[in-house]
Order: sequence, then structure tokens, then C-alpha cells
Amino acid sequence: MAPQVLTQTANGEHMDITDCQFYKDVMAGLTSTPKHLDSKYFYDAHGDKLFQDLMNCEEYYPTNCEMEIFTNQTADICKALIGNGDAFDLIELGAGDATKSTKLLKHLIDNEADFTYLPIDISDNVISYLNMTLPVTLPGIEITGLNGEYFDMLKKAAAISDKRKVVMFLGSNIGNMPVADAEGFCNELRKHLSPGDMLLIGVDLKKNPATVLAAYNDRKGITKRFNLNLLERTNRELGANFNVNQFDHYAMYDPETGACKSYLISGAAQDVKIGEETISFAKDEYIYMEISQKYAVEQIDEMARKSGFKPLTLFSDSKDWFVDTIWQAV
Ligand code: AVJ
Repeated sequence: MAPQVLTQTANGEHMDITDCQFYKDVMAGLTSTPKHLDSKYFYDAHGDKLFQDLMNCEEYYPTNCEMEIFTNQTADICKALIGNGDAFDLIELGAGDATKSTKLLKHLIDNEADFTYLPIDISDNVISYLNMTLPVTLPGIEITGLNGEYFDMLKKAAAISDKRKVVMFLGSNIGNMPVADAEGFCNELRKHLSPGDMLLIGVDLKKNPATVLAAYNDRKGITKRFNLNLLERTNRELGANFNVNQFDHYAMYDPETGACKSYLISGAAQDVKIGEETISFAKDEYIYMEISQKYAVEQIDEMARKSGFKPLTLFSDSKDWFVDTIWQAV
């Protein structure tokens, strides 16, 4: 019998890779037709670093746009979130390095707002970083980092306190879902909230198709490496033997639907081993990696209403490329 392939979990224990969710999702995706992988797995320590590089690269505009909004309109955004001044839990879904939210957090602390910051992230790397650094950069902050899936952690957050909830979902992370799934997501999110609770959501807008495409097809090839890192991650964590030189990155944007999609294309007919399984690729076969959906403002308002929210305020950057909008649960 073939030896078991073991992987090390976050707490140092060893488990059979076939028991871990990452393995199950990778196998499910690569044995489907067409093949696909889940972009939520981009963000291991290497992926977090590559995403940092992406945010600093010339073509990738969403971060700069949202940063401009958070820099120039901090006071107005905070005022809207503080509302009547009741204590609140400020929950951030997919906090990343919290650069943008730090602008808000600082302003809230300076204005003695009564809140606890609860960043949620799928990356344990991110959460331990925030738990360690934020109390230093933002003295006086109350922070409880939660490492896990969004809705599991939202439940946890609700169990920790019954204060008013303000949820932040920034950076156009909602774009990583197709429109129908995004609506489902907002519906589910609404179920975890009570009337009066708020959502601050960052959404990338439809714009010149060439601008969008360039952001996901940068000339230095950072987006390509970002995608390939998921294959490398399966090599590292699941003992797979992907030869990443045999895959190329292909990005496309459809201005009609607003869908920007990334694929990895197999450069040759090849077999890849993942644990005990073998996955065969035909030459030119694709793996669908990621969607980054772009919206029109009217679509965003419609999504709010459909999922039990009322759109309150809209903040946009000077180019009108990106919006942060506040919804209130009704
Ligand atoms: C972090 C999901 C907002 O879709 O724009 C960047 C991830 N992918 N370049 C995005 C990403 C390729 C990013 N989000």
C-alpha cells in the first residue's frame, strides 16, 4: 500500500492530507469539467506577499482608488458609521493588512468612538500579524482577530457581544463572486445582522475595458505569479508536483457583463500528481482561477435592496472608478 501523505496543521499536528478542506476543494475542482480552483486559496504567506506587490504595481488601480476615498473622506465615513454614538463592533471581513481600515480606525480612536475592532481573515498569517501590530500602531485599540471563514467567524462575533454591528467588506472582495453568488452572500450576511446594523462595502465599477484588463494582466507578470502561487501552494502543502513553467496566465474582461476572469492554461499535455491521485491536462486546457466582477452603481443599489438593506451613502474616488457604500439593514 502507498504511504500516507501527511501535512502539518497550524497547531503543529499531522493529519492525512485527504482529510483537509484544501485538498478536498483542490481535488473537487481539478476533477470537474471544466477544471477550476478557488481563489480564496491564493492567500497563503506567499500569496499575501504577492498581493502586496500587486497593490503596489502600476496597473492595479482598485487599492489606490479605495485608499483615496479612505484618505480624503475619512471624517464623513466615520460620522456615518458612528451614527447616534452607541457602542459598536466594527467587523472587517478579509482584513488583509488593514492599511485602508487603519485610516478609519485612527480617526475613530482620535474621536473617542466606542468600538471594538474584529478583523476576520482566512489567513492565520494575517490575523496574528494584526493582533500583534495594531495595538502598537494604534494605541488604545480594542482588537479581537478572528481566523476562519467569514460566516463561521460572524457567528462567533455575534456570540462575543450583542452590540450594534458595523461590517466592513472592502477592496472589492465581493467581486470574487459571480453576481448571483454575491447576492446570495449579501442575503446570508443580512441574516447575521439586525435592523439598524450597517455594512460598508467597497465595489469596483465598470469602466474602460482596457483599464480593467491591464489591472489583471500587469506587464511585470505579478498577477501571473499570484495565480501560479496556488499551484505552488498545492506542491508545498499537498505534495503535488505541478511544474509551473508548464502553465501560462490568461486574463479576460467582458464589458457587457462586467466579469473579469483569470485562467491558467496548460502549455502541454501533462500529468500532475496530487497525493495519491493523478490529474491529466490536455495541451491548452484551462483552469478557471478567479472572477473579479465589476458593477454599475445602479446594480449595487439594487443588490442592497434585494438582500434586505437600504443604501445610505456613497463615497467615490475622483476618477469614479471605485465606490465605498454604506448600507443599513432594514
Ligand atoms: C483582493 C479580490 C479584490 O479581485 O481585484 C488582484 C484580487 N486578483 N489581482 C481583485 C486580485 C488579481 C483582488 N481582490
